[in-house]
Amino acid sequence: MAKKALITGITGQDGYYLAEFLHEKGYEIYGLVRRSSQNIEQRLGKLSEYVHVEHGDLTDSLSLRDILGRVQPDEIYNLAAQSHVAWSFKTPESTFDITGAGCLRLLEAMRQTSPHSRFYQASSSEMFGQVQEVPQTEKTPFHPRSPYGVAKVAAYWATVNYREGYNLFTCNGILFNHESERRGEEFVTRKISIGVARIKLGLQDKLLLGNLEAKRDWGYAPEYVRAMWLMLQQNEPDDYVIATGETHSVREFCEIAFAHVGLDYRDFVVEDPQFYRPAEVNLLIGDATKARQKLGWKPETTFRQLVERMVEADLENQKRLLRNSGETPRPR
Ligand code: NAP
Ligand code: GDD
Repeated sequence: MAKKALITGITGQDGYYLAEFLHEKGYEIYGLVRRSSQNIEQRLGKLSEYVHVEHGDLTDSLSLRDILGRVQPDEIYNLAAQSHVAWSFKTPESTFDITGAGCLRLLEAMRQTSPHSRFYQASSSEMFGQVQEVPQTEKTPFHPRSPYGVAKVAAYWATVNYREGYNLFTCNGILFNHESERRGEEFVTRKISIGVARIKLGLQDKLLLGNLEAKRDWGYAPEYVRAMWLMLQQNEPDDYVIATGETHSVREFCEIAFAHVGLDYRDFVVEDPQFYRPAEVNLLIGDATKARQKLGWKPETTFRQLVERMVEADLENQKRLLRNSGETPRPR
């Protein structure tokens, strides 16, 4: 019989790639979708052909208990979150409710109605915040610098607590930034790749960004969802850092992205304080040795390949939009 997986956050970047990955492995997939989701059909795309959509919300325990009780999934992947760090400063309470308490609600629903399930929590390098050591490992102390980071720390410990307290199979994947052609448009990498494409086609003159010196450990999302699955296939539940082990600044991302289309980022990027955060995470770089040794996981895509792939995809998207609108491009 096919294994069943429930994915929360199925309409997000990772939800898409994870569903695709599990489908190829023969899983029956259930995806949690909330009422306020926008453009569901477009975001699910070809997933609609095989994903069973379950309506519910991480802020609503009753819906979670109902779904888990009926579906009895073998594996639960909790990818849902208010995941935008800058936005979390504007909506700290609802961010905590979804990103922190939401994980607790799902764990408790699992304990009560489906305790045999294996549980993956989408933990984040943002928990390291003001980093206490370089590079960051599973043992590095947390020092979150945003309401989002604080909520993720609460969810991390709830996941550990349900493992230790109730002997449930629960894992934290501490994933460093991972990007793709499906990355949300408000995150910096995608904002840059769309900006580069529009500037190249003469649709935009400037790209306004915040802190260009922040450094991140950026990997390719489709490779990261495989690590989530691997964690749930082990004999014992555990926590793992997933990262490339390289760090690059936002400025370097811009430099490569603009150069790929023959432009110099200094002619187009404007640093605008409206995009600064009340507290910044200046440097992230992960050490994924444990994942390599125990899960046999390692990243494949290089930083340059990632940047160029995103720019190419957005050039195609923007050209298609232009064709559909009937406008004439004025490429630089
Ligand atoms: P994303 O694209 O922002 O997707 C977030 C998902 O959560 C969306 O499907 C969203 O659905 C859903 N969601 C939000 N609030 C919800 C609620 N109240 N109830 C049910 N669903 C809700 O995020 P992502 O980049 O795929 O990341 C997946 C997870 O990994 C997130 O938890 C994120 O915090 C974490 N993470 C991401 C990274 C990264 O670099 N991408 C790194 C570390 C950790 P709607 O369509 O309704 O908005
Ligand atoms: N979003 C955004 N927009 N960020 C900008 C901009 C801008 O215009 N200009 C500079 N930045 C800087 C931010 O200040 C931050 O230092 C860096 O670019 C990355 O910002 P994001 O792409 O928004 O990602 P993030 O690192 O804050 O958070 C992402 O990664 C976390 C893992 O470390 C999100 O995916 C989180 O959900 C995830 O947990």
